[in-house]
Amino acid sequence: MCGIVGFTGHGPCTDILIESLKRLEYRGYDSAGIAVFENGSIRTAKAKGKINEGLVPLVNRGADNHFSTDFSHQTCGIGHTRWATHGEPSDINSHPIGNGRVCIVHNGIIENYREIKEFLLNAGYSFESETDTETVVKLLDYYYDGDPVEAIIKVCAEIKGAYALGILFRGFSDTIYAVKKESPLIVGKGQDGNFIASDVAAIMEYTKDYYLLEADEIAVIHPDSIAFLDKHRRPIDKELRTVDWDISAAKKGGYEHFMLKEIHEQPSVLASSMSVRIKDGLPDFSDFGLTRERINSYSRFFIVGCGSAMHAGIVGKSLLESLARVPVTVDIASEWRYADPLIDEHDLCIVISQSGETADTLAALKLAKECGADTLAVVNVVGSTIARAADMVLYMSAGPEISVCSTKAYAVQVEMMYLIAFAVTLSKGKITEEKCREYIKELQKLPELVEKLLEDKTDYQFAASNLMNAESLLYIGRGLDYALSMEGSLKLKEISYIHSESYAAGELKHGTISLITEDTPVIAVATQTALIDKTVSNIKEVKARGAKVLLITREKQIIDEKAYDIRVNLPDAEDIFMPIITCVPLQLIAYYTAVLRGTDVDMPRNLAKSVTVE
Ligand code: F6R
Repeated sequence: MCGIVGFTGHGPCTDILIESLKRLEYRGYDSAGIAVFENGSIRTAKAKGKINEGLVPLVNRGADNHFSTDFSHQTCGIGHTRWATHGEPSDINSHPIGNGRVCIVHNGIIENYREIKEFLLNAGYSFESETDTETVVKLLDYYYDGDPVEAIIKVCAEIKGAYALGILFRGFSDTIYAVKKESPLIVGKGQDGNFIASDVAAIMEYTKDYYLLEADEIAVIHPDSIAFLDKHRRPIDKELRTVDWDISAAKKGGYEHFMLKEIHEQPSVLASSMSVRIKDGLPDFSDFGLTRERINSYSRFFIVGCGSAMHAGIVGKSLLESLARVPVTVDIASEWRYADPLIDEHDLCIVISQSGETADTLAALKLAKECGADTLAVVNVVGSTIARAADMVLYMSAGPEISVCSTKAYAVQVEMMYLIAFAVTLSKGKITEEKCREYIKELQKLPELVEKLLEDKTDYQFAASNLMNAESLLYIGRGLDYALSMEGSLKLKEISYIHSESYAAGELKHGTISLITEDTPVIAVATQTALIDKTVSNIKEVKARGAKVLLITREKQIIDEKAYDIRVNLPDAEDIFMPIITCVPLQLIAYYTAVLRGTDVDMPRNLAKSVTVE
């Protein structure tokens, strides 16, 4: 949550800061701001709302405190896009926050800000905002006597929590200082200047070369040089990395929304993500040490994640239990981390996270490690905090996912669950290599089936036109279809703002069915052969009470036409492979419903892509 950027170079920085911030807006969009040096003074422009709505008009007309509209002398600055934690979204609570001597942008949470504030109040400081960040500014100011690094070291020794900070000090008008703990921060090395950013996609327009800042490391960034120091001021040598994907991956490429683009990328990413994990027709995780012997040493499996990642975990549990016959616990990270879980050194904890930064998932991973368990992170963002903290990392290779609403990352997370489940099933001797190869071949057919689903979208658009005026609706399913119902329901409510719940179809009559009145939409997912008849009975129960049923099922399935109002057909695959097929119509129905309702599809209200607070 929150995105930070910075640039110091030989040319103007203001446009660079704003353009880079736009690429980080998925991390939060409650407010945005920049601070730049102008003739040695720090000038800020910041405003509530999205970048184009608040910050850009403000910068163009010159912000109140003499922010010049001639950007040519502004060559060093920092920027921030906010997801509010402490203090409501407002101009005053926006970052950068400064006092003329020191100015900072912050991603994270300062847990002991109350004590620090108390101390600073006693020292004569006053506060304007409700943010935790302002305490860091004032503490830096308190310790700053002309040596920025010394002040940073002293402040970092006192503050507790998660942070990535970009800092400007008056008197050092071509220099950005940066430091981090927990929250991500990269330092970009460019031709005409250097950068900081919360992620590399923000600055890819300008450079592909970057350093990963680690906890307690300080970066001192000049236009032509970058120095890294540890907390004892000792210089650190760091590896220069290069991004291996193209900037086009982070652009809309002709689609109206990133979400639609990312839905369309699914056939190609599903194919490419699995291809690097299959050797000789079998899943292969040897590059990160998940060998058959290691798999066989585990007696239990835990899968932990948040939101869609956790939904992918539910599919994983079902696959692992039904194929490998191993006990699997799947849980929401924010619950599991406080539930005193029964996990020990004989177990494997799989954490799933697209961003690799989700605070609760990271905490769950750390807890599993403390309990002695082995940890495997299924992560998309290379070098992310979770990836670095885990014993083993299975990179999803799904490319950047910009839309806040997860689509391709979810599909690839589910795909990774298949590969893990097949590997475990094979290692535990529950299938032969030949059978495993057959499964892999079936998996390899899925990208083509998904491609087919994307050819004609009229059914999804029609379904959306029937849902757009609903106030509340239900998704139902059984078994794997229930797992998909959860994901479909989350997608819809997240971007269309229609209240929606998912329910196990058989559980409805134990209470929830009372919500059904004339024309309540019920979206029923029925793809699992052994359960279809049971689900159809449940559909009839809601239909008899006036519900308007949208049925998502296999094309070949014969179902009494009276049982539903609208039907969306899916191509045929073996039962266990239906989740990857089913998720696509669910994504598109949510997408078109949101478009019809005119919501901000890629940046739904109150949300952020990377949830770095618990
Ligand atoms: C829903 C969605 C979220 C994320 C969740 C976990 O569309 O995107 O539910 O799945 O916030 O995020 P990661 O995978 O980054 O840990």
